[in-house]
Amino acid sequence: MPKKIRLGILGGGGDSLIGVLHRVASFINDNYEIVGAVFNPDLEDSIAFAKEIDIPTNRVYKDFDTLVEEEMKLPEDERIQVCSILTPNFLHYPMAKKLLDNGFHVICEKPMTTTYEEAKILQETLKKAGTVFAVTHTYTGYPMVRQMREMIKEGVIGKVHKVDAQYYQGWMNPIIHDKEKRGTVWRLDPKKAGISSCMGDIGVHAFNMIEYTTGLQVQSLLCDFNYMYDDNVMDMDGTALIRMDKNVKGVIRASQVATGEENNLTIAIYGQKGGLKWEQENPNYLYKLNDPEPLQVYKPGHEYNSDLSLDGTKLPPGHPEGIFDSMANIYLGVARAIRGEEYNSGEFPTMLDGVRGLNFIENTVASHKQGNVWVDMD
Ligand SMILES: NC(=O)c1ccc[n+]([C@@H]2O[C@H](COP(=O)([O-])OP(=O)(O)OC[C@H]3O[C@@H](n4cnc5c(N)ncnc54)[C@H](O)[C@@H]3O)[C@@H](O)[C@H]2O)c1
Repeated sequence: MPKKIRLGILGGGGDSLIGVLHRVASFINDNYEIVGAVFNPDLEDSIAFAKEIDIPTNRVYKDFDTLVEEEMKLPEDERIQVCSILTPNFLHYPMAKKLLDNGFHVICEKPMTTTYEEAKILQETLKKAGTVFAVTHTYTGYPMVRQMREMIKEGVIGKVHKVDAQYYQGWMNPIIHDKEKRGTVWRLDPKKAGISSCMGDIGVHAFNMIEYTTGLQVQSLLCDFNYMYDDNVMDMDGTALIRMDKNVKGVIRASQVATGEENNLTIAIYGQKGGLKWEQENPNYLYKLNDPEPLQVYKPGHEYNSDLSLDGTKLPPGHPEGIFDSMANIYLGVARAIRGEEYNSGEFPTMLDGVRGLNFIENTVASHKQGNVWVDMD
């Protein structure tokens, strides 16, 4: 077994949503060891949390700048090798930039930055750094999403002609209707979240999934938002018509006010010979729609799956794996890249996905604000 990769964590404290997912994912395949962190903006909180999860406190730093400064003083074989950035969005860019400038590998939450301009600067910075950079579009790690990608690549459904991605949540519903509560959520503050809530937070996952599974790129889009209230500057719901390469057309539907919906991400890709459909809330089933044959259901771990899909399954068929395993698959791919081992480009989303994500988010806002017009992606 090679030595564990030394991992630093930024954000993701005990009060956070996503911290536990990354911590567990990093442990699942025995590749990483958390050696340093700034879990929270307050040092006492960070240290208390490190004690709670039994991580040595000697490399829990007061802030991000101190982490980089102190780690750079350590010999290279002790220093943090890769940092996971799990903070609110506005901190991703300054953290990622400094980490890359100092030669660290980075695992960054989405959206990668708050502006397209920052995303492009990061892209240039990465070229100079030459390190590994992953953006955690978590759902790409599911075995049946990987299978979908490979089946489309092999031509199983023929030429793709229609895509439909839906990401519906309802959790913002009670918040948006309460004027006081609206001011307490960082996702509704453009200074912390960026210019979009719904498309920036979840629409961007749907966008990435479409490009990931089809291997095609969105070329242009037309978007319509609902802000719900005049004093709310962040979209709560949006629908984007999209045009992709090769005359593929489709729709990305996202909502944070789809009352009662939990994490309903559904991707459907239709081709001349059949369709493939996958639902995040039942991730171990990939539906193949055939005409005129009966519906077929593909499941993880079976020999009939692709190597990329089977690589993301640890147990025999019938032992359901879920979101922790999906994120763990991304961490596994990153570990291989850091160690210079061979890996499949489908194992983790990269800087390019991050840049395209920001291009998408800004274009959805531009399209809506210009009066629901078609806008071109770069
Ligand atoms: N990949 C996914 O599916 C997915 C899901 C949820 C959230 N996210 C992303 O993860 C990121 C965090 O989201 P969340 O829901 O966990 O947010 P959160 O508000 O629940 O947690 C943010 C954490 O960052 C910490 N933090 C804030 N400022 C900090 C600083 N200056 N230094 C260090 N730590 C700091 C907070 O104390 C908290 O622990 C966001 O970018 C979000 O878009 C991704």
